[in-house]
Amino acid sequence: MYSSFEYYTPTKMIFGKGAEDRAGEMVKAYGATKVLIHYGGGSAVRSGLLGRVEKSLEDAGIAYTTLGGVVPNPHLDKVYEGIELSRREGVDFILAVGGGSVIDSSKAIALGLANPEDDVWDYYIRKKTTDKAFPIGCILTIAAAGSEMSNGSVITNEKNGLKRDFGGECLRSKFSLLDPELTMTLPEYQTSSGAADILMHTMERFFNRCDNMEITDAISIGLMRTVMKYTKILVDHPDDYSARAELMWAGSLSHNDLTGCGCEGGDWATHNMEHEMGGMFDVAHGAGLAAIWGSWARYVHHAAPDRFVKFAVEVMGVTPGADDEETIEKGIQAMEAFYHEIHMPTSMKELGIAPTPEQIAFMAQSCEDKAGGANGQVVPLKKEDMIKIYNMAL
Ligand code: NZQ
Ligand code: ZN
Repeated sequence: MYSSFEYYTPTKMIFGKGAEDRAGEMVKAYGATKVLIHYGGGSAVRSGLLGRVEKSLEDAGIAYTTLGGVVPNPHLDKVYEGIELSRREGVDFILAVGGGSVIDSSKAIALGLANPEDDVWDYYIRKKTTDKAFPIGCILTIAAAGSEMSNGSVITNEKNGLKRDFGGECLRSKFSLLDPELTMTLPEYQTSSGAADILMHTMERFFNRCDNMEITDAISIGLMRTVMKYTKILVDHPDDYSARAELMWAGSLSHNDLTGCGCEGGDWATHNMEHEMGGMFDVAHGAGLAAIWGSWARYVHHAAPDRFVKFAVEVMGVTPGADDEETIEKGIQAMEAFYHEIHMPTSMKELGIAPTPEQIAFMAQSCEDKAGGANGQVVPLKKEDMIKIYNMAL
C-alpha cells in the first residue's frame, strides 16, 4: 500500500536541440524586466552558450546583468555577491546557466532577494524558514543534480566547510531548458559523476521500509536501468545524442519526486553523509555518493531485505543466489562493478580522500546535528553507525 503523498512539480520543461535559444521568450513570458544571468567557472563562456543566451535576451528586449564564477559545491560568498549585485541592478528574475551548483546558487540568491531582512544562510542551518523567493529559470548544461526540477538548494559555507540544504516549493524553477547537445562538452568524469547522482536520487527513494508500490517501483526500475545502459555507452561515445537525451531527462525525473510517490520520502542517509564529505573535501557529489553507497548498503540491508533483493534481481539483473543474503551481496557487487565501468570510485581511497578518525567523527556528528537526530529510513543511523559506515568506505 502507498503512504499518502502530495506531488507538485510545476516547472515547465522545454527539451530538445536549441531549447536554450528560447531563453528570451521564456523570461519575458514570466514577466522579467531585468535578468541576472548566473553561470559557473567558464564552460558556458568557452562553448559560446553564454553569448547565445545573451543574444536571445537582447532579441526579446530584456535587460540583463551577468555574474559568473560559481564553483562546484557552490559557495555562500558568491550568493551574497549575487544578492548585492541584483539589488543594485534592480534584477527581478534569475536565469541559471549551468549545472546543479549554478542553479543552487541562483536559488539562494532568489531567496535573498525576496527576504531582504534575513541572512540566507539562516535558512540553510534551519534557524529560519521562508516560502518566498524571486523567480528563477534554468538552462541546464549537465545531467546530474536534478535541481532544474527539484525544490532544493545546497550551499557550502566556505568559512566553516558546512554544506547544507534548504527546500521549499518557492524554489521550483519556473522553466528549465534542456538541450542534450549542451552536455557533450562535459569531461567524462563529470558525465559519470552526474549519472551516479541521478541513479542515487532514485535509489534513495527506492530503498525504504514501505510496502509494495508497483507503479512507483516500475518507474524507478526503468529509470535506473536506462541510466546505466546509456552511461556505459557515453564512456566510449560521448557525442551520442540519444544517450545524452536519455540521461538528461532521467536526471530531471529522478529528482522531481516522481520516483518517491508513496515511499514516505525515502532514505537519504547516503546523500546526507556525502554532503559532509563535499563540505570538508570538496569532492564531486556523484563520485562521493558512489564511494560510500556500497558500505551503506552492506550496513543496512538486513532491515529491508525484500527491497535489496528486488534491486539485485530487477535493477541489476543478477541471478538469485542460494539465499537472500547472497542475492543482496551480488546486487551490491553488480552496482559497484557498474561504478567501476564508468570510472567512478567505490571507496574514499578511490575517490582520492583519506579522512582521519577525527574528521570522520566530525562528519558523523555534523550529519547527526543537521538531521536533529538519526539519518535515514531503512535504518535510522546514529553518529556511531555513520562512523562505522565511513570507516567501511575508507
Ligand atoms: O563551472 P563550469 O565551468 O561550468 O564547470 C562545471 C563544473 O566544473 C562543469 N560543467 C557543467 N556543465 C558543463 C561543464 N563542463 C563542460 N561542459 C558542460 N556542459 O561540471 C562541473 C560540475 O558542475 P556542477 O554544477 O557542480 O555539477 P552538478 O550538476 O553535479 O551539481 C552538483 C551540486 O548540486 C548539489 C550537489 O550537492 C552539488 O553541490 N545537489 C543539488 C540538488 C538539488 N538542488 O536538488 C540535489 C543533489 O542531490 C545535489 O546535492
Ligand atoms: Zn544528489
